[in-house]
Amino acid sequence: MPVKRCGPAAVLENKPLGDGIFRMTVRWTEPVQAGQFFMVRGWDRFPLLSRPISVHDAAEETLVFLYEVRGEGTQLLSEKRKGDSVELTGPVGTGFPVEKLKGKIAVVSGGIGIAPLLLAVKGLSGCEVTLCCGFRDKSYALDDFRPYVREIRVATDSGREGKKGFVTELTDPAEFDAVITCGPEPMMEKLARACIEKGVPCYVSMERHMACGIGACLGCTHHTAQGAKCICKDGPVFKGEDIYA
Ligand code: FES
Repeated sequence: MPVKRCGPAAVLENKPLGDGIFRMTVRWTEPVQAGQFFMVRGWDRFPLLSRPISVHDAAEETLVFLYEVRGEGTQLLSEKRKGDSVELTGPVGTGFPVEKLKGKIAVVSGGIGIAPLLLAVKGLSGCEVTLCCGFRDKSYALDDFRPYVREIRVATDSGREGKKGFVTELTDPAEFDAVITCGPEPMMEKLARACIEKGVPCYVSMERHMACGIGACLGCTHHTAQGAKCICKDGPVFKGEDIYA
């Protein structure tokens, strides 16, 4: 498990991708795992809590966050420019078991749930990966995935791109040896239940409001088949059957 570190990280780029989505690159040299996240803040006192933001990509000296402006904290992050810094605590949590997966893998996202899946896809070397992704109206970040996947299937709520409808309509677990997913809970629940029914392993990345992000406040406790677990420390990635069976 990589060492958790707290401290400032220099912002190298913070690029708007449209529709309130930003890609922030910071300097970082410690190892991270696909599916882990950082508690991020770019302000002094208010808002009180740091924001949990998953790792989108990582290289030897950089870390990339893909995030959506949803409130005051992410709005402040979106205003960061090259040369500014953000405070990071992490990496936190248990990621996707990408090194254990083999064969045909469906990687399924809903909205900004696509964020932690790039590093996961990069870790699925030797697998045949199909990315199934749902967006409200317009896709983003897909070019980064193209070198690592066999196929990309897109669904949008509006029908502007890909199939009009839900991403779950594009994903039949019976086609795959395993499924990994991140997105809105109703989407993940539907997908995980379909996987359970067809006996296909499924890994879901859960999202919660988090106060401490390190397993200290118990504010993110969730009931699982293995008892009460902290989403931040024991997750955010769980087996689908532990959450939805
Ligand atoms: Fe505090 Fe998870 S956010 S225990």
